[in-house]
Amino acid sequence: MKTQRSYAVEVEDLTVAYDAKPVLWDIDLKIPKGKLMAVVGPNGAGKTTLIKAMLGLLKPVTGAVRFLDGDSDVRTLKNRIGYVPQSGSVDWDFPATVLDVVLMGCYGKLGWIRRPRKADVELSRQMLAKVGMEEYSSRQISQLSGGQQQRVFLARALAQEAEVYFMDEPFKGVDAQTERAIVTLLKELKEQEKTVVVVHHDLQTVPDYFDWVTLINLRVVASGPVEEVFHEENLKKTYHSSGTLLRSVG
Ligand SMILES: Nc1ncnc2c1ncn2[C@@H]1O[C@H](COP(=O)(O)OP(=O)(O)O)[C@@H](O)[C@H]1O
Ligand SMILES: [Mg+2]
Repeated sequence: MKTQRSYAVEVEDLTVAYDAKPVLWDIDLKIPKGKLMAVVGPNGAGKTTLIKAMLGLLKPVTGAVRFLDGDSDVRTLKNRIGYVPQSGSVDWDFPATVLDVVLMGCYGKLGWIRRPRKADVELSRQMLAKVGMEEYSSRQISQLSGGQQQRVFLARALAQEAEVYFMDEPFKGVDAQTERAIVTLLKELKEQEKTVVVVHHDLQTVPDYFDWVTLINLRVVASGPVEEVFHEENLKKTYHSSGTLLRSVG
């Protein structure tokens, strides 16, 4: 029986291990459609692992991930899901220009064989402009800084015109101007009713940038609207800290 879902992603009873060592335990998570969600937790909490497991890049020990419309196979949904990996996690030793990399975002829609159309090149250039990387379009991707590569990945995900986005620390290593550009972009995606899941490190900006948050450390400590779950008590449970983590909440 097919039920109407208002969730972009549902994670049920997910456990993930590297070798025999579990790094995520019994994760249950429902991410409603149209939310900007931060994934917050200390280093090594399993944030990247969670993103990869949701994307089907890691095979879980147990559990299931369901996407839009209850479809559980991430492969049939690949055009509808965008991924911006953690900066520095991709080794670019093959020759590709910045524009090539962004155009790859269109290939899901095009198929690998078809040459990109003028419209795709136009869209890719627009997205590069959005992230302030237009003037680098013919530069080799390997000849960019980590932060610049991150912006190119972002442009690529945008060119893909997906419905659900996963971004692993998109603010890492970017300057203040780029950070503002990315925030504007996130708000635009929200206006388009996209769902965006963002691993985020800066606790202070969570209430400004996001409307939903998941606090994680091996297990889910809390997940829900920022104004309900993002408070000192949950943060202490997440960071195993007794000190003050926030200057102020809300
Ligand atoms: N490929 C791997 N092989 C073995 N252990 C890993 C691997 N990737 C991550 N880990 C371990 O899994 C835990 C969670 O890592 P990760 O998901 O990268 O955390 P986060 O993104 O929250 O910093 C850490 O203890 C890390 O050392
Ligand atoms: Mg990580």
